[in-house]
Amino acid sequence: MTRAVCPGSFDPVTHGHLDVIARTARVVDDVVVAVGTNISKNSLFSPDERVEMLTEECAQWSNVQVTLFGGLLVDFCAARGIDIISKGLRAADLSYELQMAQMNRQLTGVDTMFLPTAPQWAFVSSSLVREVATLGGDVTAFLPAKIAARTTAKVASRNASAALDV
Ligand code: PNS
Repeated sequence: MTRAVCPGSFDPVTHGHLDVIARTARVVDDVVVAVGTNISKNSLFSPDERVEMLTEECAQWSNVQVTLFGGLLVDFCAARGIDIISKGLRAADLSYELQMAQMNRQLTGVDTMFLPTAPQWAFVSSSLVREVATLGGDVTAFLPAKIAARTTAKVASRNASAALDV
């Protein structure tokens, strides 16, 4: 039985992420979607909110489960019996993703499988979605409907509290 992890911040989960999760679920027996914290990014949603949203979106696949993770990804893989890290790859990600894949393999031997991002989502990233939403743009094309609604609401409530603080 082959078990893969799809790790990420998923802040919020996009159509591009879900495409990679679906394709991974077709080629391995079992998929763990692991919601981590990228220490170099400011988050919009809390980790628990991200898990909740992903759990709802991934309910359509019987071999996919969603969980939080902390610490090193390679330690999470070892503890959960995960054989492979599965990641979507956009052209802009190549050098950083390659470096992480090589570091992870050096640390414990766990390998990474890259799936080229579907062309229609190649320009979509959670960071850009957060930026567009924060500045009042329409993000409905890039996210599942419920996630888009939650993103718009979260940004509105954050902007309202920021206005009160001024
Ligand atoms: O969606 P992101 O922000 O690209 O996800 C990045 C994430 C959380 C998968 C990455 O930062 C990660 O693996 N963090 C865990 C800490 C770790 O293992 N760091 C060493 C990487 S070589």
